[in-house]
Amino acid sequence: MEITKELEDRLRLLNAKYEAIGQDLISYLDGLLYSEVTTYWDYIQLDTLLSLQKPKTSFPDEVVFIGYHQITELYFKLAIQELVCLGKETEPTKSSFLMRLNRVNRYFDALIRSFSIMVEGMDQKEFLRFRMALLPASGFQSVQYRQIELHSTDLIHLVTSSKRDEFTEDDAPEKMYPFIYWKYGATEQLTGKKTLTLTQFEVRYDEELLELSEKCSNTNLWQIYKRLSPEDQNDPKVIEALKTNDLNVNVYWPLAHYKSAVRYLSKSGEDIAATGGTNWQKYLPPKFQKRIFYPALWSAEEIASWGKGWVEEQIRSLLKGL
Ligand code: HEM
Repeated sequence: MEITKELEDRLRLLNAKYEAIGQDLISYLDGLLYSEVTTYWDYIQLDTLLSLQKPKTSFPDEVVFIGYHQITELYFKLAIQELVCLGKETEPTKSSFLMRLNRVNRYFDALIRSFSIMVEGMDQKEFLRFRMALLPASGFQSVQYRQIELHSTDLIHLVTSSKRDEFTEDDAPEKMYPFIYWKYGATEQLTGKKTLTLTQFEVRYDEELLELSEKCSNTNLWQIYKRLSPEDQNDPKVIEALKTNDLNVNVYWPLAHYKSAVRYLSKSGEDIAATGGTNWQKYLPPKFQKRIFYPALWSAEEIASWGKGWVEEQIRSLLKGL
């Protein structure tokens, strides 16, 4: 084989790379000689991936339930990666802001469109049986969902709506964190006490999430947006992308999700208790939670009617079909 100029150049570059870190290029070339070529199944860890669906019952639809939760968590992971990358930008540009935010928006678009896999894709009788084997686990315990929220907005906007007025944006995260909306939502229907689903989640994640909320007070998406030039902040494309994000995460996804709760947990007028034990009819609808990441971008009227029209219309059509 001829040692071409191109090959020589590459060897020189490789040598410089390994010398810089005190390593011997020849040993690394030996490594190349003996290593296996990469296969698709090893690269994406297919065997491991397909071994991760471990149903607790023998109902086939439980695999649909587990699989779709896992798919959702993978999209959440990709969304967080974009938000973390943006959070590290000290001088963000409009193009990087839009590029990353539009990626997050696409992941949520995909999740919203595919939620029918849950809403229509399982047998209700099977669902109601296998879910009893999962108590008290609930999607409520999805830490990545909470991380997305903290990476998106100032903590004050995640404080439960009835307490929000008691805080200002400058309050320390540790002062606001105990009043975050989901701590209020997860109370037992009958006693009003914290649910086991919530207390387990708090033991596992409270410390981590409080730390993250402190970190995100300077790095969340809204703070990054405010670092753009005034001209870029007013760019209709930027505002549109932020509004889409707000609607996707706080109205359309919660609504698609709520539809599955209505489909499986509402039965001719009576409500079936949720696995997490919350008063889900009151807790889940966007119009009650009024979670809005970027309120400064919406009119008072839009805020007042947040999530209303969509929810009512969807519930009416769903209840008709039951
Ligand atoms: C048939 C499908 C589903 C039903 C019936 C359902 C039901 C519920 C209910 C009733 C709650 C309220 C908490 C509780 O008491 O458990 C809840 C919360 C939640 N679920 Fe689901 N769920 C479904 C699918 C999913 C999927 C696929 C995900 C994806 C990760 C998910 C993520 C969540 C999250 C993040 C919350 C908390 C929402 C919030 O705090 O606003 N759920 N779910």
